[in-house]
Amino acid sequence: MYEQVSHSLLNDILIALKPEIKNQKLQHFYTRLGANFYAIHSLFCSLYGARPDFKKQMQHLVETMAKQYISRPAYLKKTDLAREKDHNWFLSQEWVGMALYCDNFADNLSGMHNKLHYLQDLGVNLVHIMPIADCPEGKSDGGYAVRDFRKIDSRFGSLKDLDSLASDLRKRGMLLTLDIVVNHTSDEHVWAKKARAGEKEYQDYYFIFGDRQMPDMYEETMPEVFPETAPGNFTWDEEMGKWVMTVFNHYQWDLNYQNPAVFIEMLDIVLYWANHGVDILRLDAVAFLWKKLGSNCQNEREAHQILQLMKDCCQVTAPGVLFIAEAIVAPNEIIKYFGEDAINAKECEIAYNATFMALLWEAIATKRTTLLNRGVRCLPDKLERATWLNYVRCHDDIGWGFSDVDIVAAGYDPQSHRRFLVDYYTGNYDDSIARGLAFGINKKTGDARISGSLASLAGLEAAIEANNQDEIEAAIKTIVLLQSMTMAFGGIPLLYYGDAIGTLNDDSYLNDAAKFDDNRWIHRPLMNWDKAAKRKQPGTIENRIFTAIRNMIAVRKETAAFADRNNRELISMDNPHLFAFSRFDVLNASSKVLVVGNFDINPQSFELAPMLKMGFFRNGSFKSLCSGETFLTSVATVEVPARSFLWLQT
Ligand code: GLC
Repeated sequence: MYEQVSHSLLNDILIALKPEIKNQKLQHFYTRLGANFYAIHSLFCSLYGARPDFKKQMQHLVETMAKQYISRPAYLKKTDLAREKDHNWFLSQEWVGMALYCDNFADNLSGMHNKLHYLQDLGVNLVHIMPIADCPEGKSDGGYAVRDFRKIDSRFGSLKDLDSLASDLRKRGMLLTLDIVVNHTSDEHVWAKKARAGEKEYQDYYFIFGDRQMPDMYEETMPEVFPETAPGNFTWDEEMGKWVMTVFNHYQWDLNYQNPAVFIEMLDIVLYWANHGVDILRLDAVAFLWKKLGSNCQNEREAHQILQLMKDCCQVTAPGVLFIAEAIVAPNEIIKYFGEDAINAKECEIAYNATFMALLWEAIATKRTTLLNRGVRCLPDKLERATWLNYVRCHDDIGWGFSDVDIVAAGYDPQSHRRFLVDYYTGNYDDSIARGLAFGINKKTGDARISGSLASLAGLEAAIEANNQDEIEAAIKTIVLLQSMTMAFGGIPLLYYGDAIGTLNDDSYLNDAAKFDDNRWIHRPLMNWDKAAKRKQPGTIENRIFTAIRNMIAVRKETAAFADRNNRELISMDNPHLFAFSRFDVLNASSKVLVVGNFDINPQSFELAPMLKMGFFRNGSFKSLCSGETFLTSVATVEVPARSFLWLQT
């Protein structure tokens, strides 16, 4: 019955299409629309069905998809077809990413061409260029307070520069990732300006209230994201004389997806960038997309419906494009951004593995893997056609988002353990030489997150200052160990620019009035190309880190077991300092890799007999994939040096 309604609505919509759309050759569009219409209609109806203008909005939605399909360049339509055929293409072990700011890395977009060889030297073939859309200077939140979604900020270049970079990347077989800030706009966006000027149509794009009644009710249950610099979730707009919901900074106005016009506008923007050759769109802050009184306004069911709808619509117009969910939330919530009760991702194909990232840092601080093992074991199973973005550092802070239940099961008290981690990474702990800063300190809850570069958090900065060779050695090992885990875990490893050459904290942000109160800038430095050149000088710190990572990337790409086919099994090692798992080649299950990381500062070993029983190393010998060293299975135990890893294969 419902399907019939949906079909007849589709017919009505197609008949009513504007002539400039109807007269085009839209073969694949119609096929894909037919295949996805039932889902699109049900979702749109569930979100907006009660509105009297529902049918009109639905018509507008389909026309938006059709128009963008018409403007989608032929070469991208070809890529769509190829990716539809090889639909698991992104699960391959061949992909390795890096996130970077194009201005800090290469002055601007056109400067990027001359730096691609650096990425290729390392083996990186997926580039996430941090936000480049137009933002007001000084009120940009690092690019996440967008004034014009379709315009590139002149500091970075022009649309022509981006097109040329996208084409260069494509020729080199590299993927381009860009951000779409779907949750909010800058208060200087034209929609915000019109709202401020009193236009009701645009006030409905946001959450705007004449008095404190509703804001106060929302505040009862909404947490604060930036408690120090932007407390509360509402901002008084003097000119409008009203309160606006601003979950992040005061100048970032939350979009109201209860209004279908907002959804359609944002879909149009998603498809616009898809048509500029972006392979993967990082959807920012997706957990916040739906606000509901009485809740913490995160991870709401409707937020998932919005993403499903976005995905289904994108499948019709630009099916080759993938979404990354940036949802830094509890482990059992993150996984839902792939979609639930499905085999293939139905929301975002890729999600940040924030849980694994935080667990890795926890294991470094405690030198034990109890919580890491427990946290990974408790990660719910991922869908088949979906993958993680595994990372050690990114442009944001590190939050201790693992579950309290797991912390208790690992033998710690949640509050004091999180406090210990903050103390450890800010160097306020006996044996810690980490140089992080506490970020987002919440005086009410006692929570805090951590800023700092990978190298400085790993102790390299303090070690260099003290000219302590042993500590330098230990810091390099820590960095390489952490990266070895993200390379092998299953998913796409995402490096952060500067980390492959041991870039330290940069406190120059303190001299910038627009940045000094946000210490995440300590790990968003200018790329130091003189330092990068040292990667070619044997024995330098840069050379040691860079070559180790380059080697891991090369080995990863050659090792089919590292493709992400949900082919990982945790292995219990009976040693509280080791973290071990196996990866197997789905086409040849006997081809297994045993990954072992030692998080302790002393060597640790494991017995071989249980591994042999589990079916590892049947051929009498095995080798370390990264060093090439061979071992005989006649040895009783295998030693893993301090803060080191092994990838072992028969
Ligand atoms: C995302 C970004 C972060 C930004 C926030 C608000 O979490 O990664 O940098 O501050 O969204 O846009």
